Amino acid sequence: MKKIEFPADFIFGTATSAAQLEGASLEDGKGLSIWDVFARIPGAIADGTTPDIACDMYRSYEEDLKLAGKLNMESFRFSFSWSRILPEGRGRVNQKGLDYYKRLIDSIHQNGMVPNATIYHWDLPYELEREGGWLNREVVKWYGEYASLLFHTFGESIPLWATVNEPIATYVGYALGQFAPGRRSESFGRQANHHLLLAHGEGVKRFREAGLKNSRIGMVVDIWHHHPLRAGSKEDRELAELENEKTYRSYLNPVFQGCYSERLLEYMKENNCMPVMEEGDMERIKQPLDYFGLNCYNRVLSCADSELLKPRKENGQGGNFLENGSEFYPKAVYDAIGILNREYKIGIPIYITENGTYNCSEEVTAKGKVHDTQRIRYIQGFLYWIHKAMEEGADIRGYYLWSLLDNWEWSAGYTYRFGLVHTDFKTQERIVKDSALWFKEMVKNRGFVP
Ligand code: NOJ
Repeated sequence: MKKIEFPADFIFGTATSAAQLEGASLEDGKGLSIWDVFARIPGAIADGTTPDIACDMYRSYEEDLKLAGKLNMESFRFSFSWSRILPEGRGRVNQKGLDYYKRLIDSIHQNGMVPNATIYHWDLPYELEREGGWLNREVVKWYGEYASLLFHTFGESIPLWATVNEPIATYVGYALGQFAPGRRSESFGRQANHHLLLAHGEGVKRFREAGLKNSRIGMVVDIWHHHPLRAGSKEDRELAELENEKTYRSYLNPVFQGCYSERLLEYMKENNCMPVMEEGDMERIKQPLDYFGLNCYNRVLSCADSELLKPRKENGQGGNFLENGSEFYPKAVYDAIGILNREYKIGIPIYITENGTYNCSEEVTAKGKVHDTQRIRYIQGFLYWIHKAMEEGADIRGYYLWSLLDNWEWSAGYTYRFGLVHTDFKTQERIVKDSALWFKEMVKNRGFVP
């Protein structure tokens, strides 16, 4: 088969986030985040764990980044912990927090990688949550001050900035209760979303004011496009369409078109969950961006008959299903790129800021190996479809695998392993999986033969 080859300037890297890898959650002056507190509610996290230690990267960052460099990674995506820098969320600055990120960024450069930094990856300072968190419109100002501090402190040492990662997490945290802060009200979810979008716009505005001419700013959104399970069923089609409106389109429409869709407005009216908005909000949200960060893992099937969606025991044996039971549908990324370019006509470069899978064969063998063959197959599938979109003219500049290390997977705790490198959470030992070795070769060869 023909080689899947990527251009020399295409960037390969791994993605991480502060709350999931750093640990040291109460050290060196860090304030609590909503996840530090949420994780202590019995039943909130699948295995009852907290992010207190995670991969302990706050201490091991030098070795971990050296390893990433050795694995031929060209970029390292990370997020700042807001409450490590501003323990109360605003006002008093924790110099030790800033110093840590300064060392981290230097080390990323020293290991030959490009830093890609996210300002907000789900870990709101708990002190701000006590004042309503994302439900309090003041949060837009708090976020803006935090973002400005980062731009002025780290500036062009970071070529790629992202305002927020996956805004849907706020909805999940305020409407569905499955993420921090664990609230359960549809109107809270919609309001929190609206404020997060405003914060995003504020972040872009502050970035432009900071005048970082050699850096670029974007936003990271995950697209899990819903397809009707039975294409012939009107009910399934309508359900899928509504789900798409309620999820990724509720961000893309305001950001790229300056409005919520008619369908979403109708839904919010009918369900009494219309967010409070002020005049001019949509202009504040719709800021020109330099690039778009696409997180893509899979598609979702919608079906009016939930019985038909139940997993079968035959699944997970290969083919269209992964060992973890989820569907293997790598074309999801090609479809998502098509939505961005054809429907939204975003007209800016795209980075695949996250893609990856969990719980392949993760056992460490007696010889100290991890034969996660299915992860390799998964990555190949997605790279194939990314490459195809590029051949057809899509402007895709990079690919980040989630994640460098197995880490703390939010409500799933340590039960989901996503890393190219295995983490022993008792000893903090790192074990390079087969997928990491494959990835390393793939980057060296600028591609692979499927
Ligand atoms: C989405 C998030 O950005 C990241 O924090 C999470 O761990 C991965 N995807 C995997 O679920």
